[in-house]
Amino acid sequence: MKTASTLADLRAQTQELRQSGPTIGLVPTMGALHEGHLALVRAARATCDHVVVSIFVNPTQFGPNEDLERYPRQLAEDCAMLEVEGAALVWAPDIAEMYPPGFSTTVSVGEVSEDFCGASRPGHFDGVATVVLKLFNQVQPDMAFFGEKDFQQLAVIRTMARDLDLVRPHVDSIIGVPIVREADGLAMSSRNRYLSPVLREAAAVLPLAMQEAVARIEDGQNVTRTLAALEDEILGGGFDGVDYAELADAETLKRLEALGESPARLLVAARIGGTRLIDNLAVGRG
Ligand code: PAF
Repeated sequence: MKTASTLADLRAQTQELRQSGPTIGLVPTMGALHEGHLALVRAARATCDHVVVSIFVNPTQFGPNEDLERYPRQLAEDCAMLEVEGAALVWAPDIAEMYPPGFSTTVSVGEVSEDFCGASRPGHFDGVATVVLKLFNQVQPDMAFFGEKDFQQLAVIRTMARDLDLVRPHVDSIIGVPIVREADGLAMSSRNRYLSPVLREAAAVLPLAMQEAVARIEDGQNVTRTLAALEDEILGGGFDGVDYAELADAETLKRLEALGESPARLLVAARIGGTRLIDNLAVGRG
């Protein structure tokens, strides 16, 4: 496995890779890898000749009072895991390589960015869209793989790819990979490590309460009342706040007050001990 930290090196390395097999799958990450990321690498390996994993803690997607400084950085450990998984190349630029002096462009995706995490983390999706478009242009992958845990992020990136007629990757080659969960159901996240053992145990209430809410909605119970009960259950289980707990159309991410014919998703963001966790579940045919 190779590592590139400059654009010139990345271009040379990807060119070389393409000589021994034409397709490249990109797995964009911020490092601090866990089984959820490794599932993305495995999905990419199953469909592409080579897998490139980017590791870059992108400052522009963090708000002023968020965890940019605290976000775990462990490049050597991440590379060791990726080597075992058969990744071909790790793209690990530093901040100056990604955002050289004078950098002044922002990609802003409209409606789909606005609600949910877009509302509770202003500017977050502009930062994500901008860096992901840069990563796409830098690596020029045939396919790109994202976790469904960041369900709104995936919708934002697909919307960007569709609206801007991206070629590499084409919108249809942006693949969502199902959430990987811990034994107690908590969605894997690099931020789970912020939780003390007590809070980590309490956090399992989130997926459990969400599963119950999904069952109630699928059973035809009132959505507004079910979401209110879900919020109470999360708060009663030890969370300090719920940023949102909503049912949304799985494609457009528009809020729903009732389950209809089209696929839906239950989306939740909640805070426990200063850590913000997000999760989502398919509802109905979602
Ligand atoms: O999901 C993430 O880890 C990040 O938001 C991404 C897509 C790598 C962009 O920085």
